[in-house]
Amino acid sequence: MAAMTQAHVLAGEDPAAVALAAEAIRRGEAVAFPTETVYGLGANALDPLAVARVFEAKGRPRFDPLIVHLAEPGEIARYAHAADAADPRVARLVERFWPGPLTVVLRKLTLIPGIVTAGLETVALRMPDHPVALALIAAAGVPIAAPSANRFGGLSPTRAEHVVRQLGRRVGIVLDGGPCRVGVESTVVLLAGGRAALLRPGGLPTEAIEEAIGPLEVLPDGPIGELAALSPGRQAVHYAPATPLELRAPDSPVRPTPGERIGLLAANEDGRRTAESVGGPFAAVEVLSATGDPVEAAARLFEALHRLDEAGVGLIVAQPVPERGLGRAVMDRLRRAAAASGA
Ligand code: TXA
Ligand code: MG
Repeated sequence: MAAMTQAHVLAGEDPAAVALAAEAIRRGEAVAFPTETVYGLGANALDPLAVARVFEAKGRPRFDPLIVHLAEPGEIARYAHAADAADPRVARLVERFWPGPLTVVLRKLTLIPGIVTAGLETVALRMPDHPVALALIAAAGVPIAAPSANRFGGLSPTRAEHVVRQLGRRVGIVLDGGPCRVGVESTVVLLAGGRAALLRPGGLPTEAIEEAIGPLEVLPDGPIGELAALSPGRQAVHYAPATPLELRAPDSPVRPTPGERIGLLAANEDGRRTAESVGGPFAAVEVLSATGDPVEAAARLFEALHRLDEAGVGLIVAQPVPERGLGRAVMDRLRRAAAASGA
């Protein structure tokens, strides 16, 4: 991404600053803002390209699912499956602990793009307990997807200066809300489909949650434990397409045998044309970005994989993308998918 000039650090309590930041969010930009736990780097959760810019600014070599920040508890029903939104345990937790350092993971509605959830069918929702965060979300008029506002591998920021040090040249606006009161990330609880399991300990003690809704499942940890699959930020296990996937250069001929259905995931328009001229025909085709823009490719990756999965093909042939910027994260996902399918 083009290096920017130094970020504008604006006083979070100034309504004009919040209005500017909200406009930037609506334009599809990423904005750093304070919460009671840590500073977040937020973007419009309903705009896949805006969310891709967050991953780009963080320099994450892979995609982790992000928490969607809401301004009001009533917004849960807009983004989560009705049965999960109506779960009385969700109501009890939200009533007691929102706004606050508690994130609930529920089955998502299709309005939430795949890049927000790294392809998972669930979405993490939280209402932060910070006046600046709440004012920003309300003024933007959209939910805000935000990871902690640090570079990949860096420490979570609890002051505006920490954000500036790590991301000062990669974000336009940092809203300064002073030091974060809690200082550790939110507690994440899975409440999808009638479950109740701790995914990440955090700023709200587990005891307080159990007091409200009874014992939480403790999931087996470790690289292949269920926790790894359900809380992908902790371990690098993510959504992989159900269909086998193979990485192939555009000029390597792929010819389906009679009756065989192969899907093509092209890196760009040229790649699609080349693959279709040296091989094919393909039963379904997705192009990550016509021009090969890595930010756009990242924004489309999970939706494209889901569509190919649903197209009833026996194999997905994916073209490698250049490992620059978000291209590294895209390639990380494609390599994992290829390794998982053994194709
Ligand atoms: O306090 C916080 O939670 C801060 C502030 C900015 O709100 N945010 C934060 O985001 O810590 P991040 O991206 O560093 O961590 C998000 C956590 C990860 O552990 C991730 O695996 C989990 O939430 N998560 C997000 N979506 C999930 C989903 N659909 N299923 C399971 N876990 C999910
Ligand atoms: Mg983090």
